[in-house]
Formats: sequence, C-alpha cells, structure tokens
Amino acid sequence: MRLTHLRLVQFRNHRHTDVAPGPGVTLFVGGNAQGKSSLLEAVQVAATARSPRARHDAEMITLGADWARVRAAVERGGRDEEIDVAFRREDPATGGRVGRKIRVNGVPTRRAELFGHLLSVLAGPNDTEIVTGGPHFRRRLLDLLLAQVSPSYYYTILRYARTVLQRNRLLRTRSAQGLDAWDEQIASLGAVITVRRRDMVARLAAFGAPIYDALSLGREPLDLEYLPSLRGGDEPALTTFAREALARRRPEELARGITLVGPHRDDLYLGAGGRDLRTFGSRGQQLTALLAVRLAERRVLWEETGEEPVMLFDDVLLTLDEERQAYLMDCMRGVQVIMTVTTLALIGARAPDATVFRVEAGMVAAERAHLS
Ligand SMILES: Nc1ncnc2c1ncn2[C@@H]1O[C@H](COP(=O)(O)OP(=O)(O)OP(=O)(O)O)[C@@H](O)[C@H]1O
Ligand SMILES: [Mg+2]
Repeated sequence: MRLTHLRLVQFRNHRHTDVAPGPGVTLFVGGNAQGKSSLLEAVQVAATARSPRARHDAEMITLGADWARVRAAVERGGRDEEIDVAFRREDPATGGRVGRKIRVNGVPTRRAELFGHLLSVLAGPNDTEIVTGGPHFRRRLLDLLLAQVSPSYYYTILRYARTVLQRNRLLRTRSAQGLDAWDEQIASLGAVITVRRRDMVARLAAFGAPIYDALSLGREPLDLEYLPSLRGGDEPALTTFAREALARRRPEELARGITLVGPHRDDLYLGAGGRDLRTFGSRGQQLTALLAVRLAERRVLWEETGEEPVMLFDDVLLTLDEERQAYLMDCMRGVQVIMTVTTLALIGARAPDATVFRVEAGMVAAERAHLS
C-alpha cells in the first residue's frame, strides 16, 4: 500500500497543500507550529475519517472557514484509489454541527466501509495519553485496529455502544421493565468484543515484546495484558458470565443508572519490567512502549491484510537515541514512512534517499531530494 498524493484544503493552518510522498521515507521538516503534525493528522483522517488528536471535528477546519477537505490517492494491490473526507460546518441557525462526508473513488461511503482502503499507523507525542489517560484511550486503540482489519467488528462496536446508551436510559427510569432484552444484547455482543480484543492484545504482546526488547536494549520486558470485565474462555462462557453478572448487579445498576458490566468497562494494562507504566514509567519509557505497540500494529495489519500500512512518525526520532533511531529505520526497510522532524540534523545520514519537504506557515515545498 502506498500513499501517492495528499491534498489538504482549509485543514488546520493549511489553506491548500498538495504533496506527493515518496515510496520510502518522506520527511516533513520545519519549526514548531508550522503545520507538520497536521499533515500526518490528515493522513489518519483519510484512513479512518477521524482525527487522532481533535476532540471535535470542527477543530480541523481552518479558523474562519466553514469547511475542510482531505484527499488521498492510494495505490493498493496495483490499483489506484481516491479517498475524500470533507467536514462542513452547518448553519449556526441549525446548531452549527460539523457534518462529515466520505467518498471513495467518488462514491459516498460509510465510515465502516472506509477502513482498509488506506492503512496507516501513527506514532507520536499523543501516545503518552494512551498510557496515562483514561481506559477509553486504550480501548480506542484496540477498537480502531480491529476495525481496520474487519468492518464487521466496527458494526459490532457501534451496536454495542448504542445498546449501552439505551440501556442506561432505561436504567435511569428506575424500572426493570424491558431490561432483559438489553441484557441479552450486552451479553452476546460483549462476548464477541471481549474475545476479539483479548486476541488482539495477545498478538500485539507477541509482536511487541521483541520490538520493545530492541528499543529498550533488553533491559526490561514489555507487559501487555487485557483486563476484561467479562470472564470466560470462549464466547458461550463469556455470555453466561455476563448474564449472571448483569442479574447480580441489577439493583446497583438501577440505583446508579449505568451499565456496570461489559467491555465498555475494560482496560489494557501496559507495564515494563514488572511495573505499571502509567504510574511508574518515565516519559521516555511510556513513548518507547507505545512505539513498540505501534510497530506491533503494523505487523498485525500486514498479517491480516497482506498490505504494509503507511507508517507515520510524529517527532518520534526526538525521543530516541542514535542506536534506537538506527533500529527503527532498519525495521522500516521496504515500508512507506512519513515523518516529521524539526531539523534535518536529527535524521542525518539515516535516510539518504528520503523525499524532503519543508513546512512553513501551512505551506509545503519540496527540498533537495537527497540528503548527504
Ligand atoms: N483550525 C485551525 N485553523 C488555523 N490554524 C490552526 C488550526 N488548528 C491548529 N492550527 C495551527 O496550526 C499550526 C500548525 O500546527 P501543527 O500541530 O501541525 O504544528 P507542527 O508543525 O507539528 O508543530 P510542532 O513542531 O510544535 O509539533 C499551529 O500554529 C496551530 O496553532
Ligand atoms: Mg507537531
């Protein structure tokens, strides 16, 4: 898989940017606040229709404008595809919501069907949030990865989220009438989600361990563990567990008005050297662990789809010493990599054939094609 062209229109501080990343390493070089991360963000938007950092879609629209657009041309399995994601601020009179339109090859497309057309993995400074933030950040990492390998998982997650919402609404009426049907949904969808996430964590752990070993120079083993709300070896066992737990906790749920059982309560444990990275990890350790997870994601995507995702590294080199930088670049042979750096000195001779773009005040210009 290769991203051959990227266009940003009224996206963050980019009025109109067109870039053609190279097949190998592409560098976006520039000072702080010039628009480098926004370019990687745009790639993620084309891949998933969501920003990895914006809390609201409106943040991506250039201030003062009322729409933004990202267009990506992708070469996949010898075929060219075009992805277009547009955000438009609706009339303030009707609430001023931001609407989103996705098109693949000109055809209006739902988010679930967008996944897979462009596979990308972003590693960057926001990854510390996944370690230190609330469990929903970690669940989102797993869900996004699973959605990228299977649209049916995305539909399951959507149905589950709706079920929790409606069940909570019912719980708040303090009446148990009609709850049984919702319990069944929580139990059966919850079991599917638990199995898929648990398997995914096992695969990330298996791929991530040797990578973290290399990145931490073997000083401490990486520990990834899924912490599920439902217990059981397989789907039927998980479903039974959920039914029983829901029955047992119903009085408490009715009193509090929320669903207390199911995978919306799950978490992912991230540890290194036997310690919880969330409380005991240094920032460097946290970023290194997440980088190992991101590189493991790449392996999973490749295994599942037969395609190499586009790797996006935002300021990642900054956090690595020379030896680890060399390791990282070594892993990336044969993969399309797009990364941001504040100065070319950082990358030096590590990527002699890189395609280089200078980013300044939301404008992007090609630089000499070869570093020496
Ligand atoms: N909606 C928006 N409209 C206009 N400008 C925006 C919008 N959102 C963010 N910006 C600005 O865009 C600029 C570029 O942000 P970006 O995160 O891409 O910078 P960067 O080059 O990655 O910087 P750094 O090296 O500090 O990470 C910032 O000055 C930011 O304030
Ligand atoms: Mg940045």
